[in-house]
Amino acid sequence: MKTFTQQLSLSAAIAVALSAPAFAADLAPGFSVLALEKAPARADVASLASQLPGLQADIVAVHEVQRAAGAIDPLQTLADQLGYAYRFVQADVDAQGNARGQVVLSRLPVQAESGPDHPGRSYLRVADGRNVVALYTDADQDANGMAALLSASRLGAPAVVLGGKAGIDGFTATGLDSAASAGFADADVQKVALRDADGKSLAARLLVLDYAEAAGGAKPWMDAALSADERTRLLLGEMTQDEKFQMLRSYFGLGKDGGPLPEGAVGSAGFVPGVERLGIPAQQSADAGVGVTNPGGIRPGDFATAMPSGPSTASSWNPEVAYTGGATMGREAWQQRFNILLGGSVNLQRDPRNGRNFEYAGEDPLLAGVIVGESIRGIQSQHVISTMKHYALNDMETRRNFHSVQIGDQAMHESDLLAFEIAIELGKPGSAMCSYNKINGIYGCEHPYLMNQVLKQEWKFPGFVMSDWGGVHSGSKAALAGLDQQSAGEVFDATTFFDAPLRMAVAGGVVPQARLDDMVSRILRTMFLHGNFDNPPQHLKIDVEAGFAAAQRTVEEGSVLLRNEGNLLPLADSVKRIVIIGGHADKGVIGGGGSSMVGITAKGTNAVPGVLPTTWPGPVMFHPSSPLEALRAERPDADIQYVDGRNTAAAARAAAQADVAIVFATQWAAESVDLPDMQLPDKQDGLIAAVAKANPKTVVVLETNGPVRTPWLQQVPALMQAWYPGIRGGEGIAALLTGKANPSGRLPVTWVVDESQLPRPQIPGLGFNPKQPPVDIFDFDIEGANVGYKWAAAKGLVPTFAFGHGLSYTQFAYENLSVSVEGQRLVASVDVRNTGARAGADVAQLYLKLPQGHSTPIRLVGFDKVTLQPGEQRRIRIDAEPKTLADFDPATRQWTIAAGTYQVQLGRTAAEPLQVVDITLQETQVR
Ligand code: BGC
Repeated sequence: MKTFTQQLSLSAAIAVALSAPAFAADLAPGFSVLALEKAPARADVASLASQLPGLQADIVAVHEVQRAAGAIDPLQTLADQLGYAYRFVQADVDAQGNARGQVVLSRLPVQAESGPDHPGRSYLRVADGRNVVALYTDADQDANGMAALLSASRLGAPAVVLGGKAGIDGFTATGLDSAASAGFADADVQKVALRDADGKSLAARLLVLDYAEAAGGAKPWMDAALSADERTRLLLGEMTQDEKFQMLRSYFGLGKDGGPLPEGAVGSAGFVPGVERLGIPAQQSADAGVGVTNPGGIRPGDFATAMPSGPSTASSWNPEVAYTGGATMGREAWQQRFNILLGGSVNLQRDPRNGRNFEYAGEDPLLAGVIVGESIRGIQSQHVISTMKHYALNDMETRRNFHSVQIGDQAMHESDLLAFEIAIELGKPGSAMCSYNKINGIYGCEHPYLMNQVLKQEWKFPGFVMSDWGGVHSGSKAALAGLDQQSAGEVFDATTFFDAPLRMAVAGGVVPQARLDDMVSRILRTMFLHGNFDNPPQHLKIDVEAGFAAAQRTVEEGSVLLRNEGNLLPLADSVKRIVIIGGHADKGVIGGGGSSMVGITAKGTNAVPGVLPTTWPGPVMFHPSSPLEALRAERPDADIQYVDGRNTAAAARAAAQADVAIVFATQWAAESVDLPDMQLPDKQDGLIAAVAKANPKTVVVLETNGPVRTPWLQQVPALMQAWYPGIRGGEGIAALLTGKANPSGRLPVTWVVDESQLPRPQIPGLGFNPKQPPVDIFDFDIEGANVGYKWAAAKGLVPTFAFGHGLSYTQFAYENLSVSVEGQRLVASVDVRNTGARAGADVAQLYLKLPQGHSTPIRLVGFDKVTLQPGEQRRIRIDAEPKTLADFDPATRQWTIAAGTYQVQLGRTAAEPLQVVDITLQETQVR
């Protein structure tokens, strides 16, 4: 770049510009701003219009411009004559309409600009087809706000701040009261003398910024101003076939057979190397749904928030709790260098023995879809892709890689698939994981109906499908069925089908090149869309307190007070001697096993090491959050002792001495294995019965995967389900027991009495070392879409606790239910009143009782959680989800509300309507 050390006359400058092509060539690859010292008068416009083209300035800027009300700014006329865009920015406008501010003329098209949302901090994004520049006209206003605006609006574009002071993060002063970001190499300022109409000198300076080598120009897909589709198109066009194939398989992020990690892998479930030449970042994926895992401590120093389990979040019936939990996990994933979280698990709970229920969100498609959809939305608010899984019907773990579930099309759409569909509509996950199991005889990861037709065509899912780890059995067959990426095939599958076998299939034309490009495009587009290119993860310390707060809120809203005879809870102040029994409650709270286990938290790792199994899917993890210590902290006035419960007689003796006994009972469940039955293990039923016999004031706190048999229930006045409550389990449980928090959780599952109330009372082959061999067929047609409370209603069963049940320390009343139909929507309104003496939250549940003869008796169609002060009343409105009113017709592929008279029920559980209204619906197709 030439440097002008002396002031040039205009003619000399123009002469140089015109006579020396090198000058123009030097200017062209850079970005230039001509700053006029003062605004020209009207009479000077013609003179300037003849001089400026020779300078080829991209921007002409004038700082102090006054524009009288109704008058045309001479600079506007100049812009018109030059063919530049005119912007009057940062205007202070007085009462008469006179404006004062800064004018920017741009020779490059203005792609975007700040609107009225950012008064005083205007920016323009200008582009010349190759380069894009964000131009901020003043950074002086508010340094902090400016930094936020810069990062939000600039994204990948190199940027210039005009009139800005140095000292903005990431910006370098250029010498013209301006600063430039990365993306520019050299800055050069020259004085330029222009002449006014009378030939007198008009002072101006020209700033020329050279682009750095790797500016967006060389990689136009790095231009964050373009759409994800356009960026993908540009990038795909530059990729070699090898680079495309590189996108289609991940490696096991923990290394093969205990060997080293793949080069570049951060260390977790999956890793796809990036392509440096093209600026494609690596895909680093981590498990999963209850926090960011760090398997075996592979990433020394990393730890994460162990969130409460899925049913706990679902029990909150609060979309905001789910969103906050998702955002917590997404943020921590990003801070541990992951851009994909394998979280977003929405399989329905069809059976309490499924070993992975603790990762899911209950039995109802609406509740599960809303809760998981919100969690996905939270994850993806953090520049992290969420992976909705396990698609589909992977509702049991026993021989999950071999078994087939049998289920009709209508039934699967009205149950599991509806949960996925609602989660997709709300959360828009970037990726979906196909499941291990077969569905009607076809593997989930080579199921053209589920992946191609339903997910991609009918639901218009634009993201990519990755396989579960070990879920791929073919190359071209899977690719043609809709699988886009094979996960860790070198470790878990028979071979890496999406490498050599798929290359051959594409070379031979079995898999069209267009399909290959579609697979790659889906992955890249998702990465663009979720900020993987523009906001790459960083390695930062997580915000421990924010994580604890999200976890504790979930425990407090998600634990369910199932029974509270005589208001034993909250513990009265007069209760001074408390004995806590069992469950390792002196040390911590139990968590589920398998790939989702968060073993390392800010408070350390396993509080009770050595409980079997200690190897996969173990170890059995107790998060260091002691209910005993937390209760002692809440009740320093009370004498609180702990007895481990191994000796039943000793526990009973201790209970007899106490005012209140609190038994903690645990049940460990894990991925890859189902529970053998619904019984609490390790003779805990006997312990509870003995304690309750010794002290009628016995409270039981359950930390289980889900519903268990409760043979001692009539002897136990108070029962709380805390699920797997995570790293703030102790504190959350203590807050609920003492009344510092008022329980507001409601069951997301039907608490059946025992296995006899299930669609499949006996299932051979469940659990570790089963006595009978497993059968590789799960006949889900038995209940079809009638999962949980629908099954109970259809069969006239009375469960121990109905779906939706949960108590509070206050009471609520409903009045004046009204129901109307607004277009396709059924809308209910009801007065909810807190009739008790404490603030609390109620979950108003709206059910639709279908006419006699319908295959499904009842459905949850909407809900609303409302917090009320004592005596407060509020009228709430619940919009029913249209698809829950309708039936799916596999032949027409339509959801149709059948004409008829329905009963709309407002209640606190699925089993007990408190307000009812009959309504006649016309036949309607739901879109
Ligand atoms: C699980 C997935 C998990 C994956 C990666 C599989 O065994 O089924 O849920 O994301 O492993 O760890």
